[in-house]
Amino acid sequence: MDEKNNVHELKVLERDSRSNNLVPFRQEFRVHGFDIYYDDLDPNELTLMFVNHQRTGSGISIFTHRLGTTYIQHVDTVKSPLLPSPNDVVATSRRTFYATNDMRHASGVMRRIEILFGMPWGHIVYYGPGGVFSKARTGISYPNGIARSADGELIYAVASSEPSISAFKADEDGVLSLVSKKEFRGFVPDNVSVDDVSGSLLVAGFLNTFEMFRYNREVLRGTDARPAGSVRRLSLSSDGRTGFVEESVLSHDGTLLPSTTMAVIQRRNGIKRMLLGSVMADHIAICN
Ligand SMILES: *[C@@H]1O[C@H](CO)[C@@H](O)[C@H](O)[C@H]1NC(C)=O
Repeated sequence: MDEKNNVHELKVLERDSRSNNLVPFRQEFRVHGFDIYYDDLDPNELTLMFVNHQRTGSGISIFTHRLGTTYIQHVDTVKSPLLPSPNDVVATSRRTFYATNDMRHASGVMRRIEILFGMPWGHIVYYGPGGVFSKARTGISYPNGIARSADGELIYAVASSEPSISAFKADEDGVLSLVSKKEFRGFVPDNVSVDDVSGSLLVAGFLNTFEMFRYNREVLRGTDARPAGSVRRLSLSSDGRTGFVEESVLSHDGTLLPSTTMAVIQRRNGIKRMLLGSVMADHIAICN
């Protein structure tokens, strides 16, 4: 990517079928997890996939972006009954993806029961090349962040209520089978990112879940809750079979960035740093 040409804001556009002009995207755009994909065919054309919580039902909205332009262009928004409560998405090609569905119920009392009792009712859905949704993996307790290894061989998914992270391999139909799994103690993982250079994973999450629930409940009205967080680095042996090695990279009391849900490694001009983000915050934190 061109480092000099920093784009600060991207317009969200779609092609009007009648006039053939690019116009502002007319659908609702309420974003949750997203992913960016590119391949060797044309590395200057990025595909962006967003979990889009439209009030008429959640879907995955797919856009393209040409480097150097100032907009993303809508390609398709796909929905399915197999996508009841999408949380995060990972693209596996320009038109295929996996998405986590954290719960079976999108709202109401059953959703509260699912949260409270950590029911293993979440699943990972696959959207394949034929434009068809299928269940790739079921019986997961609150599947949350999802990511893909740099070589595309492994899919990593967090189960927040278990709490654990698993590495999966896909068969030709997109069905995921377990390769390796790491359970956490005293740590509720939220999101995962892959450091493409080292191959290791960064998992961000919480050390105190009750404080996290209180924060999420109260944050819009103002809260003194400060959910303590942690970032764990996991390294997987090359064949994945001997499991993950876990290290703690950072622990914080929540004042740095309340409700830190993600950590990613940024490498740029020889400088390596860690960026922390939160679904609830309007800023990020940078750690040298
Ligand atoms: C989770 O982290 C990935 C980076 O690996 C990011 O693309 C995605 O948007 C994040 N999801 C959420 C819900 O924050």
